[in-house]
Amino acid sequence: MRNFEIIVAVDAQGGIGKDGGLPWSLPRDLERFKAITTQVVDPNKHNAVIMGRKTWESLPAKYRPLPKRFNVIITAQKEYSLPEGVLKARGLTEVLRTLDLPSGNENLEKVFIIGGGQLFAEAINLPQCRKIHMTRILKDFHCDTFFPQIPPRLREIPSATPPSSGKTTSIFISANGRLSDISGCCPRS
Ligand SMILES: NC(=O)c1ccc[n+]([C@@H]2O[C@H](COP(=O)([O-])OP(=O)(O)OC[C@H]3O[C@@H](n4cnc5c(N)ncnc54)[C@H](OP(=O)(O)O)[C@@H]3O)[C@@H](O)[C@H]2O)c1
Repeated sequence: MRNFEIIVAVDAQGGIGKDGGLPWSLPRDLERFKAITTQVVDPNKHNAVIMGRKTWESLPAKYRPLPKRFNVIITAQKEYSLPEGVLKARGLTEVLRTLDLPSGNENLEKVFIIGGGQLFAEAINLPQCRKIHMTRILKDFHCDTFFPQIPPRLREIPSATPPSSGKTTSIFISANGRLSDISGCCPRS
């Protein structure tokens, strides 16, 4: 199965969403999300972003599919309709296997899982989860959807933690705790 990275913003209680959307507005964090998920070493390649059906529906219509990225939506619904160029998949492991095949792998650099709670809960326990790009928001937004517990094999890289902006802190959590694992770590929130 294909290795992947998670990117997420969590509040002070580990909350990630409320009423089907994000309960905060943090334009600089959205910039960071865009920078990390679009950045490629090979300009002929692009990254994939995998999301649950509810996260897809939470994106404003004008921003979806997320440009310059290969969008993959997980849903068990057979008839769910998506725009051309967006891949529908029945399950996470199924799509990670497909993206590991030479045919599914072509022109693809990295794979990011971008939410939401249900998908994170499955993804974080897979050994293919190599890294988490996490923005910690230093406030409680009384969320109804939460980030799952991080397994011990994934460890925070303390020395790489950029200083807090007052509202948020960006951290990196990696499977082997190496600083060299960090890429695309800008702009700061
Ligand atoms: N803070 C952040 O960084 C962040 C990021 C993303 C999302 N969010 C927030 O998270 C919330 C949405 O999260 P959520 O947990 O409610 O929903 P979600 O994970 O986005 O989507 C859940 C749906 O995805 C499909 N799905 C997920 N896992 C599946 C699997 N293993 N097999 C088959 N289908 C699967 C199912 O779709 P069907 O029902 O169609 O079968 C399921 O109902 C929103 O509030 C959103 O704003 C926050």
